[in-house]
Amino acid sequence: MRQKITKAVFPVAGLGTRFLPATKSIPKEILPLVDRPLIQYCIDEARAAGIKEFIFVTSRGKSALEDYFDNAPELEKNLRQKGKTDVLEILRATDVESGGIAYIRQKKALGLGHAVACAHRLIANEPFAVLLPDDVVAADKPCLQQMVEAWEETRGNMVGVMQVDDDQISSYGVLDVKDDMNRLVSARGLVEKPSLADAPSRLAVIGRYILTPRVLRDLRNTQPGVGGEIQLTDAINQSAIEEDNVYGYRFEGKRYDCGSKAGFLEATVDFALKRPELGDQFARFIRLTAGRLGADELKSAGLKTATLKSTGS
Ligand code: G1P
Repeated sequence: MRQKITKAVFPVAGLGTRFLPATKSIPKEILPLVDRPLIQYCIDEARAAGIKEFIFVTSRGKSALEDYFDNAPELEKNLRQKGKTDVLEILRATDVESGGIAYIRQKKALGLGHAVACAHRLIANEPFAVLLPDDVVAADKPCLQQMVEAWEETRGNMVGVMQVDDDQISSYGVLDVKDDMNRLVSARGLVEKPSLADAPSRLAVIGRYILTPRVLRDLRNTQPGVGGEIQLTDAINQSAIEEDNVYGYRFEGKRYDCGSKAGFLEATVDFALKRPELGDQFARFIRLTAGRLGADELKSAGLKTATLKSTGS
């Protein structure tokens, strides 16, 4: 029988310094997009793709994450007594069975590649997924599921990719494209955070990966790269060079960089607008705000705002 992807690694050891002071006491992965922690979006996406075992690579100060995936007996009892079955349902949807979740500590912040390598004993010798919870993807068919379906045909290694602008490219791992087959792209190699001049393409890797166990072995010999960190990209590049089995997948959907404040806010707005219980009221607020901003812009450009006011936009 052909192997399926059933294990996923979630590197969650980062300090979340961009969200201080909130992240002084709350892991960044618990920060809510509307009312659900960032990590929940990632877990749901992994589940939809068939993942059964969830491996978290954590660090000191992340115990709130473990509590989040634990039962909350007092809370549940309280809700039952009050007959709040709808809220109980919401809680149940976050449940991950006890044996399905594992936590591993990354003792030193040596980079994403090192974090993933920390999971090698639990992965052993099978292909696995990696999801970076900072990257939230809104899509009709969840991003990892799209990738798993494509991977069934290619096998090997696959990374989620998207086109980015010149001024953004040096923030990403970038594909050196060999064959562009529409959604699927084969890669000659990958470069982590290249300068614009050195970027081999504008196809950037997002935080979704399907990897062979070989990448775990290579990670153990990977020397620190960009930023003095052990880079996952560098180990995948090794497979591209030696095995010619690395593919990019142009996923369908919108990716939000929730590791940045601006990206987090954009996701918050878009996700809130999609919520039936919030949508109308929130959309009204957004329209009014957009109208006000439009009026301010016109004002600062020295133009009349009468039209805007009279239409009430
Ligand atoms: C990491 C990876 C990078 C990838 C990015 C996607 O970088 O190293 O290759 O493009 O995630 O979000 P980071 O954003 O953690 O610096």
